[in-house]
Amino acid sequence: MEVVIYRTYEEISMASAAVVADVINSKPNMVLGLATGSTPLGLYTELIRMHKEEGLDFSHVSTFNLDEYVGLSPDHPQSYHYFMHENLFKHINIEPQNVHVPSGTTSNYHAFCQWYENRIEECGGIDLQVLGIGSDGHIAFNEPGSSLGSRTRIKTLSKETIDDNARFFDKREDVPIYAITMGVGTVLEARKLILLANGANKAKAITDAIENPVSSMCTASALQLHPDSTLFLDTDAASQLKMREYYEWIQAKKPGAPASS
Ligand code: F6R
Repeated sequence: MEVVIYRTYEEISMASAAVVADVINSKPNMVLGLATGSTPLGLYTELIRMHKEEGLDFSHVSTFNLDEYVGLSPDHPQSYHYFMHENLFKHINIEPQNVHVPSGTTSNYHAFCQWYENRIEECGGIDLQVLGIGSDGHIAFNEPGSSLGSRTRIKTLSKETIDDNARFFDKREDVPIYAITMGVGTVLEARKLILLANGANKAKAITDAIENPVSSMCTASALQLHPDSTLFLDTDAASQLKMREYYEWIQAKKPGAPASS
């Protein structure tokens, strides 16, 4: 698990976009796992810039989103289908048939979840998964108590997540209670994981994920089990880490790191 701390959200966005671009450039038909929410917006803006100004090519890339609200149709402004279309897909040269976002309106969720898992496998597995983290420590919508071996399924959102996400809806009552989400086990099978977090409201969850024991009570702590996971944090999100100085020292001593003044 690598922890990288930056001063600003912009720096997290640039650094994580560079990692995504690097994987696309070394494997043009890579499979990219995507997250929604506020955190990856800067990353998506930078990927769009790289596509428009530097020719970053998505024409052979396939994508799989982590989750979708149950009951929201793809054209609902708060659906994750809509979010991804508006904030990334419509600005890049991705082929629509290569885009996968869980269905919030299927008539058979069980069959859909199995199909989604199979589809990931058919595409060769996820090469790089982008993650955010909930203030309750969730990754995707794997709320506290989710099995660390869980697969794509329907999950009931926690009260904390409903409160956090109410900012996107007219009123709290409009936030769906259920989501369809990749499981922790599904996420852990990606070859590379990057988790982005900014802001003081993520500081406790980040400390639980990095420095406390692996536990289903903070599903992001499962990243400790992954052989290639990197967390991009701003100083606020990193503010409760006990070993913060050590992580910064490791970063400064990395081969190729800028010499300190
Ligand atoms: C969204 C997702 C969630 C978010 C998390 C943080 O696809 O999987 O786990 O990453 O809830 O959301 P923001 O970035 O809005 O704080």
